Amino acid sequence: MDNNQTLTITDNRTNKTYTVPVTHGTIRAMDLRQIKTGPEDFGLMTYDPAFMNTASCQSAITYLDGDKGILRYRGYPIEQLAENCTFLEVAYLLLNGELPTAEELDLWNCEVMSRSMIHENVKKFMDGFHHDAHPMGILISTVASLSTFYPESRNIHDPNNRHLQIVRLIAKMPTLAAYAYRHRLGLPYVYPDPDLSYTKNYMNMLWRRLEPKYAANEVLAHALDVLFILHADHEQNCSTNAMRAVGSANADPFSTAAAAVAALSGPLHGGANEEVLRMLDEIGHKDNISSFIEQVKEGKRKLMGFGHRVYKNYDPRARIIKQVAEQVFAVTGRNPKIDIAIELERIALSDEYFIKRKLYPNVDFYSGIIYQAMGFTPDQFTVLFGIPRTVGWLAQWQEMLQDSEQKIARPRQIYVGAERREFVPMTLRGQHELAMA
Ligand code: ACO
Repeated sequence: MDNNQTLTITDNRTNKTYTVPVTHGTIRAMDLRQIKTGPEDFGLMTYDPAFMNTASCQSAITYLDGDKGILRYRGYPIEQLAENCTFLEVAYLLLNGELPTAEELDLWNCEVMSRSMIHENVKKFMDGFHHDAHPMGILISTVASLSTFYPESRNIHDPNNRHLQIVRLIAKMPTLAAYAYRHRLGLPYVYPDPDLSYTKNYMNMLWRRLEPKYAANEVLAHALDVLFILHADHEQNCSTNAMRAVGSANADPFSTAAAAVAALSGPLHGGANEEVLRMLDEIGHKDNISSFIEQVKEGKRKLMGFGHRVYKNYDPRARIIKQVAEQVFAVTGRNPKIDIAIELERIALSDEYFIKRKLYPNVDFYSGIIYQAMGFTPDQFTVLFGIPRTVGWLAQWQEMLQDSEQKIARPRQIYVGAERREFVPMTLRGQHELAMA
């Protein structure tokens, strides 16, 4: 063991000293298990609720430096990918580790787009949902249902089979999302058009009415592509952790991804973009910002779209999204909420409460404003996060399955409940409390 790359621990309970290796600035939690007070002792564990300081895997997919505000996919800065790539190109990169050649990209586009149809039966249970069912609830259920249409998907250790399911899910997510949207409006479903790009096809399925050929606006389609790139992966976030945890039990990828979609729907995670819009609606006018900020500082409210477990600096995605917003508004007209949001950001970033806690706008702060300008209702926003994040979930799932160190994810606990006690028959229950009263 190289002594410079070790940690020496003295257990003051026993006065014994242990030396454990440090790799990548990390010690292995299992190396602590040897630290015992005696043969009966289970061994030392770490306690880390919410994984504040625990790496659950080694990953070569996304690099994130939250203090410096850096985000890279497979080594490429997010800014360069957003400027130069299409979403499916980035999807290829995330899944395969390298950018595709022109030929590989053509093949990949064809492969994905040719799998964008969903089984007609999915339409039937789509119809079973209430007209006002939340689209994330529909997405969770319909993604899970795909496992019943592709039972071979449980064959997760066969790389070819795995690849097929990955393509299927990426291809079908926009179709499921668009069908959920049209179901709400009572509009007939529009079948996917494999001749279109990934985002244009999605727009076609959402917004085509009676025109013989729907022509997506180029600027808006590009903006959606950029937003999809920015949301494609974000290393071990809550939903990706759900994907890895459920996938570690060797569940099929559709059931596994449904768990990830469920995690994403939470307002502290992907659901925040919807909450930001509600918050901006409630604030209503720049004059009301100060009193809102006061409520946040008093702990009565949260400034949605602000703060991040990992970023303690400006989220680089929020910076790009702010630029995209201006391009979108040039087409759609300005969403007046952007001015409230910019002012809210300005006031928050100069306030001691936010400075001290390193709270900056995250990816969700501006994305909803753009989506609303494009014609999406707030309950669609998290769906727009889930479609591209599917790529990240699948890349991480695949990486986990190929990692020989990974096993079923099963944390330990510290039991703090009652000691052993004797069973109390029904007739005697409550008597103790009565006697005490
Ligand atoms: N508004 C006001 N105060 C906040 C906010 C916020 N948005 N976020 C954090 N804080 C405060 C906390 O109250 C805490 O203050 P304290 O030290 O006085 O107790 C401090 O900042 C640290 O916050 P934690 O909650 O410990 O940070 P954590 O890493 O656990 O939470 C989270 C991160 C969940 C993102 C949080 O910042 C939050 O709830 N933000 C709003 C929801 C949101 O925008 N979520 C989207 C995140 S990005 C994504 O998932 C895509």
